[in-house]
Amino acid sequence: MSMGRARSVVLIGMEGRMIEVEADIGQTLPAFVLLGLPDAALRESQDRVRSAAKNAGVELPRRRLTVNLFPASLPKSGSGLDLAILMSAWAADGQVEGTSEVVFLAELGLDGRLRPVKGVLPAVAAAAEAGVGTVVVSSLNAAEAALVPGVQVLAADHVLQVAAHFRTAKAGEAPISHVQGLQRLTGGLAHHDDAPDPPESRDLAEVRGQLHARFTLEVAAAGGHHMMLIGAPGAGKTMLAERLPSILPLLDEQEAMAATAISSISSGATSVTRLQRRRPFESPHHSATAASILGGGSRVPAPGAVTRAHLGVLFLDEAPEFQRNVLDSLRQPLETATITLHRSAGHVTYPADFQLVLAANPCPCGMNVKDGSQCSCSVAQRRNYLSRLSGPLLDRIDLQIQVERPHSAELAPAETGEGSATVAQRVQQARAQQADRLAPYGLRLNSQVPLHLLANELRLPRSCLRALDTALDRAQLSLRGYVRVLRLAWTLSDIFHKDHPDEDEIDAAMQLRLVGTSR
Ligand SMILES: Nc1ncnc2c1ncn2[C@@H]1O[C@H](COP(=O)(O)OP(=O)(O)OP(=O)(O)O)[C@@H](O)[C@H]1O
Ligand SMILES: [Mg+2]
Ligand SMILES: [Zn+2]
Repeated sequence: MSMGRARSVVLIGMEGRMIEVEADIGQTLPAFVLLGLPDAALRESQDRVRSAAKNAGVELPRRRLTVNLFPASLPKSGSGLDLAILMSAWAADGQVEGTSEVVFLAELGLDGRLRPVKGVLPAVAAAAEAGVGTVVVSSLNAAEAALVPGVQVLAADHVLQVAAHFRTAKAGEAPISHVQGLQRLTGGLAHHDDAPDPPESRDLAEVRGQLHARFTLEVAAAGGHHMMLIGAPGAGKTMLAERLPSILPLLDEQEAMAATAISSISSGATSVTRLQRRRPFESPHHSATAASILGGGSRVPAPGAVTRAHLGVLFLDEAPEFQRNVLDSLRQPLETATITLHRSAGHVTYPADFQLVLAANPCPCGMNVKDGSQCSCSVAQRRNYLSRLSGPLLDRIDLQIQVERPHSAELAPAETGEGSATVAQRVQQARAQQADRLAPYGLRLNSQVPLHLLANELRLPRSCLRALDTALDRAQLSLRGYVRVLRLAWTLSDIFHKDHPDEDEIDAAMQLRLVGTSR
């Protein structure tokens, strides 16, 4: 009896788990036994592995081959274990050695070609964390694997190159001694590569006029506040929302890794090749399926738009048109910054820490603005339209503003406003100031500050609160509304470099809520 070992990684959601692959060649009749909770796709691995070995000219012995995947309790899926299985089998046969501490991450073609797999970035990151020094991937995944610092990446196009690299003296005469070597990359190089992301194509300078809406966008960016834009068709709601990422700070190193890892498991066929520094902007259509927005899928739940928007912006244009269950399901991510997907095979939790922007027409016909004289909707239609957005969802939205159609004078070329870069600088400074203040409480943004903190450690002088307290006492403002005004007032004072908000900021914050509601 002879044994061979190799390592690999499977992903549970975004989390990589180390797998030990152990192969044993017995003396009995030819068979291929795969143990340790493999799923259907993984079971097909047997055929790919045998045929790849055969077509590579290093056939597996015609005896009983048992492959064991540890830990056995962990459900394993997909095709990324193919290469590790073949290497462990070859090791058991004495063809290769030194594979037991190496992570192999690739699918095999029947001809022995190495195919790229999804999620290489989080998988290699998990391997590096577990102390693994070397990973072997398909050439098409090489750049992605090399984004992880602290690992040596070996990349190959064909399994023979891998076999040649790890061959034993015994295998010397086999055909595998003649193939070209592996490509070697040192992980983490991307961190020293300062190539900027392609410039943001949507700039705030393109928005003419709209001073109020532009400033609201800046406040949303500075404090991380969720926002809702209400206005007639063509008022510029979509145009404004699309420019929010351009004034948000770039992702830091750790955040960039997280965002890129999400692209890595989401991307169709292509692998990622660079760290993503720009914040994502996801704008699912209201007719999109719940699974594509929230995540899901039949076997292994795939991340949805809420996860792809992680650390960036989730924009729901024409928000009242979304399915009610989709809107209601946003409550979990808004509360926990994660989304949990339940499937028969178990559940996965994906990150979903996004800034929500909703856009809506004021009524079904869209014309219920100003005096409403152009609106053709019934009273009931008007009342029902925005109420499709449930209270618990709206409660999370600090900023609600009306976007008016710009006047013709504002559309003149001379009316060009500040560009995104200038606004982004102020946003960055305001964020730095609030991060300093909130660090002792484990928070970073004003939008995250809970009532008890506002009422105690961050309590404002009574004189500043007079107008706000009166509104609360007269029931012109709910307690939630009260909290929202305070959060916004803090963001305003951070934008203006003040130590704390005064009456002026409280006043201004009260204007940033939808007029005529007690929300
Ligand atoms: N303030 C503005 N400055 C420059 N262009 C504008 C402005 N507002 C609107 N536009 C132009 O009008 C077009 C329509 O705007 P946009 O799609 O953002 O409106 P909307 O409020 O989202 O409308 P709808 O309710 O129909 O979705 C934009 O593509 C843009 O070209
Ligand atoms: Mg629009
Ligand atoms: Zn109407």
